[in-house]
Amino acid sequence: YREQIPIDRGLDNSLALLLEGYQYITNRRNQYNRDIFETRLLGGQKTICIAGKEAAEVFYDENKFIRKGAAPKRVRQTLFGENVVQTLDNKRHKQRKALFMSLMTDEGLQEIENITYALWQDTINSWERKDKVILFEEAKLLLTKVACKWAGVPLKEQEAKLRADQLSALFDSAAAIGLRHWRGRHARNQAEKWIANLVEEIRNDEKDTSKQTALYKMAMYRDEDGELLDSNIIAAEVLNILRPIVAIAVYIVFSALAIHQYPEEREKLKSNDESYLEMFVQEIRRYYPFFPFAAARVRDDFLWKGHDFKKGNLVLLDIYGTNHHSDLWNEPFVFNPERFKERPENAFDLIPQGGGSHHMGHRCPGEWITLRVMKVSINVIINQIQYDVPNQNLNYSMRRVPSIPNSRFIISHVKKC
Ligand code: HEM
Repeated sequence: YREQIPIDRGLDNSLALLLEGYQYITNRRNQYNRDIFETRLLGGQKTICIAGKEAAEVFYDENKFIRKGAAPKRVRQTLFGENVVQTLDNKRHKQRKALFMSLMTDEGLQEIENITYALWQDTINSWERKDKVILFEEAKLLLTKVACKWAGVPLKEQEAKLRADQLSALFDSAAAIGLRHWRGRHARNQAEKWIANLVEEIRNDEKDTSKQTALYKMAMYRDEDGELLDSNIIAAEVLNILRPIVAIAVYIVFSALAIHQYPEEREKLKSNDESYLEMFVQEIRRYYPFFPFAAARVRDDFLWKGHDFKKGNLVLLDIYGTNHHSDLWNEPFVFNPERFKERPENAFDLIPQGGGSHHMGHRCPGEWITLRVMKVSINVIINQIQYDVPNQNLNYSMRRVPSIPNSRFIISHVKKC
């Protein structure tokens, strides 16, 4: 059967998307009572929005979708860079993706966990000497050091703040307009120059770098034709590791917020084992907003749920909405880690970092790093320090992408315990 899906009328609804942020797709889905509708976005392009588990299954079916031309230019100029893994398809994508996946070994993950733990010790020592600290700023700085150390990128102590600001401007600007967007573009130019120089040095044998590091592996990576890639592309791929590690600061802040707003969580995390911590981090990633949606284009015409998907159509998978879909989650707007107890794993319902296969598709290769870094950090917050949370504006916007509590989470009177 074929049917007309609901249409959000208007020549270009980008303004509504900007104003409604994470809730743009959900609001229309509620209004039409459907998980699929058509709209016009990004310069008036026909766009199909879909949500839910079946939508995620079709979206991650490689025979149906490609990524070439899906990410808007302003996102490539800030968040990703050009010609990176996010924009590739088919064999080229799989080869490039394998480079990322080769870093996610047990040893690699254990190493980043150890580095994170060690650097947290320095951080909490420094906190004891301060009246108050802004957790988001501190976590971004800490994770910049973690990311560089793990990836083999040299970083001087005096340089850390500058690089933390640059790396966070990349993810702060992706959905922004005006000044925030321009700040992101400037940061991308600076950061790509920084890394491209290091890549050149490695290639010219001017640097004595361990061959096991991400920087070295990426600098010496050869594509399917056996060629080294342009050092700017490699720089963007190295930033594809550094930037999102720094972005885990967002989840660390939301974890601290949950512990503050639901004090029983602190007790449960304290008295429970690893399995409760696992459920807690999953619920943080499900409940709080981060990526609003993922974008792809239709590979060839196909029919799904009565709708003709036409070659080239832009399709958005509602990530935030799927993580809060009432068919998938009982009381989706209640924070409840226990929902993950004995919940069978499924690659298409909990999709804060995308769905489907890590190796074959575009699902985030950094999921294990994210989980490990979150767990070590939450352990430090729960078991190694005591602190006060002074009065502040902890609201977080559903319009600003990425969302973050307005005060960036201030803590005071930190004591080690
Ligand atoms: C892709 C989210 C952390 C590296 C993605 C995607 C999402 C996402 C939604 C896109 C999925 C798609 O296009 O279908 C997140 C969130 C993170 C995070 C919320 C938490 C901070 C990381 C980390 C790394 C990483 C720690 C690397 C160390 C990447 C890369 C891609 C990606 C390279 C592109 C994969 C591809 O196109 O095949 N991530 N991510 N991310 N992420 Fe993450």
